[in-house]
Amino acid sequence: MAYKRLISRRHIMRLGLATLSGIGVVLGAKKIYPRQQISSFSNQEKNLRRDFTVSGKTPLRNRAASKGLIYGAAGNYPALSSDEAFKKRFAQECGILVPENELKWDTLRPTPYIFDFSKGDWLAQFAQRNNMLFRGHNLVWNQFMPEWFKEVVNRQNAEKFLVEHITTVTKHYVGQMHSWDVVNEGIDPNHGNPDGLANSPWLDFLGADYIELAFRVAAQSDPKALLVYNEGGLKYDTPEHEARRTAVLKLLEHLKSRGTPIHALGMESHILAHETRFNPKKLRTFLSDVASLGLKIMITELDVIDQKLPADPTLRDRIVAGAYQDFLSVVLDEKATIAVLTWGLSDRYTWISRFNSRSDAATVRPLPLDSDFKPKLGWNAIASSFDKAPKR
Ligand code: XIL
Repeated sequence: MAYKRLISRRHIMRLGLATLSGIGVVLGAKKIYPRQQISSFSNQEKNLRRDFTVSGKTPLRNRAASKGLIYGAAGNYPALSSDEAFKKRFAQECGILVPENELKWDTLRPTPYIFDFSKGDWLAQFAQRNNMLFRGHNLVWNQFMPEWFKEVVNRQNAEKFLVEHITTVTKHYVGQMHSWDVVNEGIDPNHGNPDGLANSPWLDFLGADYIELAFRVAAQSDPKALLVYNEGGLKYDTPEHEARRTAVLKLLEHLKSRGTPIHALGMESHILAHETRFNPKKLRTFLSDVASLGLKIMITELDVIDQKLPADPTLRDRIVAGAYQDFLSVVLDEKATIAVLTWGLSDRYTWISRFNSRSDAATVRPLPLDSDFKPKLGWNAIASSFDKAPKR
């Protein structure tokens, strides 16, 4: 699948398992880990000393709300409609729900003429009943397109399909959406197109202006929703992420200069726990640059991929929590950041188990709650980041 290739390329790690000094390090009070196990992970020494204590059990949605922030997560129909305990925990912790797959083209449009909103509607109702905001993901992307698309859509009818799709879907949920990811992952400098635009049938058929068109059409049928450009691969101090930051800024500037109704940048934020090339200053500057265009920022798909971490779950949780804290302290420092959504809530239901599984087959632990819906150190890290965040 194209996406899988994209992920593995994007997420290629250059992990130098360097120091083999064999000196042990104390973790918590009890356990000694050989130094080589942790030597290559970001902030390892700091992580081991870090205090992730938080006061009380106040859910993340309330901690965020008290700072004028929104916290929530992606949830999918199969999990939420079948698991009562999960449903309950989800509603406790989350102030916003985004359907993980249910509003993508391939789920919504089994044939060129039918829109199937049943799963999306179920999730919308679940959000409403539990006093959660609801957000849409996504209207335009080059992936998770239905099989029929290639056969049916061409240069002549592409605009009609794009406009009809956006109009039908946004009108269906009008008044219910906090925000819409109007265009998803429209930039990929690796594809070699002008302005770093990602390969896409929309680019082929309609040219670069498909992005502006999408925002204008969405604004027409849902003038109240926050319209978001959502992108991944923006956070590291690597040539690839630098190129993407530059291209995204250029795109946002262009859209703003043309008066396009765009209101926020969505930063996906699938963090690699083993990645050391995290430069808070560079990320902070990027966030200021986005904010200075008059745009809000939403952290839309946060999780911490523990694929390459050592096996021990206690150590893994500690490194994952450190990564959450490092990232959130930078993004929440920017007052234009209005929301944080994790891509899932519990390790029981995470795409990482399929897309970034571990070679030792151990359960992946990328999310705030474990498989039994108990808070992990990552939950504490997110909670304390909200507690420390400046008020909006
Ligand atoms: C992922 C879902 O989590 C998976 O369940 C699905 O199989 C593939 O898509 N960027 C995005 C999301 O914008 O839509 C992707 O979601 C994860 C990466």
